[in-house]
Amino acid sequence: MSKAIRIGIVTVSDRASAGIYEDEGGPAIQAYFDRALASPWTPVARVIPDDRAVIAKTLTELADDEGCCLIVTTGGTGPAPRDVTPEATEDVIEKPMPGFGELMRQVSLTKVPTAILSRQTAGIRGKSLIVNLPGRPRAIAECLDAVMPAIPYCIDLIEGPYLETDPAVIAAFRPGQKPKG
Ligand code: MTE
Repeated sequence: MSKAIRIGIVTVSDRASAGIYEDEGGPAIQAYFDRALASPWTPVARVIPDDRAVIAKTLTELADDEGCCLIVTTGGTGPAPRDVTPEATEDVIEKPMPGFGELMRQVSLTKVPTAILSRQTAGIRGKSLIVNLPGRPRAIAECLDAVMPAIPYCIDLIEGPYLETDPAVIAAFRPGQKPKG
């Protein structure tokens, strides 16, 4: 049987988690993967406050207990006192993947000069790839478009499920494989 594709979607926001405003980031991530992925997948969504221990615990649960091969966070990557998503991510990953943050900031800089304010990072915990995105819903597609081509092969390398994308939306790159579409 092929391995189930479960993707963790974590909105990190004091205000969204308190119900002060509606979570827009989580649904934007879900809509992105609904569009970009050709394989069947299941979202595992959480909306949590900007609390380092809560973020770390949530990421650990999604990786270790919920079996998410990919966990995407949104929010809490900036310089404000409550922005601690990168620190919490670093608390739980075994391998940093600095290329993700580097590329997302580089691409984001063509959209907004404040892109350099995001400390977004990524890393591997067991068989899960964790990727931070900024909190602005607009930033979600901007950043995912940049890194998505490399994500399926990254998940192959950590022995996760085989992710197929819709090449009309975004082409996955696997070295040695002819591009589809
Ligand atoms: N990246 C993209 N692609 N688009 C954006 O609008 N906003 C920036 C930056 N990166 C932005 C972006 C801004 S204004 C901030 S403060 C930082 O992300 C951190 O955002 P966060 O604290 O909501 O994660």
